[in-house]
Amino acid sequence: MLPRTPVHRWLAVAFVFALVLYIHPDLRGSTIITKSLAPSRAGSGIDDLSWVKEVLCNHSIGPELSYASRIIKYIPDQVERKSITEIDHDLLPQKFKDVSMKRLSALPAATPVEVHIKKSMRPDDVDASAFIFGASTTYKRFIEPATHPVEEWKRWLTDGQGHSNGAGLVLQLFGASDEEVVHTSEILLKTGVNASVVHANNKLDMAGRYVALVDRIYNHPTRDSRKFFVLIDDDTFFPALSELQRVLTDYNPARPYYIGTFTERAEWFLRDHAAFGFGGGGIFLTAPMAKTISEAPCLQGKRENNVWRYNLNADQGDRLLFNCIANFTDIKLTYLPRLHQIDQFGDLSGFYENGGQPLSLHHYKSWHRFDVADMHKVADACGEDCVLQRFQFKDNFIISNGYSVCEYPKGITFDPLQSEDTFDNPAVTHDVDLAYSMGAQRSKLAFTGKKRQWLLLASRSEGAGVVRQVYLRRWSDPRWYGPGEEPTGDDSILVLLWSP
Ligand SMILES: *[C@@H]1O[C@H](CO)[C@@H](O)[C@H](O)[C@H]1NC(C)=O
Ligand SMILES: *[C@@H]1O[C@H](CO)[C@@H](O)[C@H](O)[C@H]1NC(C)=O
Ligand SMILES: *[C@@H]1O[C@H](CO)[C@@H](O)[C@H](O)[C@H]1NC(C)=O
Repeated sequence: MLPRTPVHRWLAVAFVFALVLYIHPDLRGSTIITKSLAPSRAGSGIDDLSWVKEVLCNHSIGPELSYASRIIKYIPDQVERKSITEIDHDLLPQKFKDVSMKRLSALPAATPVEVHIKKSMRPDDVDASAFIFGASTTYKRFIEPATHPVEEWKRWLTDGQGHSNGAGLVLQLFGASDEEVVHTSEILLKTGVNASVVHANNKLDMAGRYVALVDRIYNHPTRDSRKFFVLIDDDTFFPALSELQRVLTDYNPARPYYIGTFTERAEWFLRDHAAFGFGGGGIFLTAPMAKTISEAPCLQGKRENNVWRYNLNADQGDRLLFNCIANFTDIKLTYLPRLHQIDQFGDLSGFYENGGQPLSLHHYKSWHRFDVADMHKVADACGEDCVLQRFQFKDNFIISNGYSVCEYPKGITFDPLQSEDTFDNPAVTHDVDLAYSMGAQRSKLAFTGKKRQWLLLASRSEGAGVVRQVYLRRWSDPRWYGPGEEPTGDDSILVLLWSP
């Protein structure tokens, strides 16, 4: 029993508190956290431990782990988005510690570090009503977990909370039944994507269906309120929609424009002898351009041996569109290099870790696999400009926000403004192939012991500008050991909490 006198009681409390701090120095930092986070987190009922446990359990990680964490307090007072920002602190003053998730009753406490960024739009601020998008897919691709696009579409077609951001979408399904069209429509309605789901013209091949989409988006009832009519693939992602809109203000929507990007691969570009926009990066048409295409005889041809041959002689949709524009107008492609087709193979780290702000992404569910919707969630905290933005710390860690955290144990002796050549293109053309799209590349660091990479495993918004990210490095990944080093240890988890 505690003595009744309040003075004694306070002394006892103070003693216990001092004892706890003495035994558990980690908690010292946590007093700061309580202060900085109290207003947004009190009563939010957020159970961070359960969520992290569930993430790890879903990926069969743990319970024994090497664990570190940090709170990143972002301060939006900069005038520009830097490719890389040097921070005059260590990322991990408290190093990785061995923990057993089973025995934890709370996540180990983290201390805050400040980073200065440019203020930019969060998804719920964006008004995208100037855009109408058109995509073709099949019901099967729409429904199957490996290809379903809805989590990504929620990020750039809605405010993330079940409401449209004003953008329109015409989705045409090939070979679908009426029920499948209705079901697709219902799913999109529920997530807030303002879509018109329609049957594709089943008499057309893939190239024809692609070009026919121009007519569909141009003749949408909302035409008069749209500035850009955009053809996309079902795996095209726009990570910075308001920056994209800002860039497009350079182009007068009352004039005919055909805007897009090329493949990154010089080899293919030269082989084609045609400066056409590659569909996966997104193709942006102004109304007069879309009108001209929808009235031109792009799809004329004849049947030969039961196969339809276009007079314009193309079997890919984006090429057929170009041939049509090239034969019937004198409009050329306006090349926007920040749109990305992403035709590289192998490890895409060299691209995602180069600090750029891509305006579109593609092939992230096929040629490479990366969860770009999860990557983008941090925009709910520090805004779209800080997605893939880099922060370099004194202890040789670089965060590429939403993609990875890398440690360079032998120092950052390379030029971080160059992209690391992590790609897996054929040896014969490797050196020249990506030179025009990636610029001068630097040597890759896998297997040298000079780089260790934690890749984004999961992230979630916790409200009030707070986003939690979990990054993972598997102990068994041989790429992060040098010659003669034996892979060893536990899987390693790094948790970052982005907070205002
Ligand atoms: C874990 O997996 C289940 C089943 O697939 C899923 O419903 C749940 O959302 C996942 N949890 C997390 C935190 O990813
Ligand atoms: C969805 O689009 C229709 C036109 O297709 C429009 O009338 C409606 O206002 C839009 N809804 C939202 C929430 O933007
Ligand atoms: C016009 O179409 C033909 C096919 O009929 C195609 O080979 C050619 O490349 C196109 N013209 C131009 C200028 O692209």
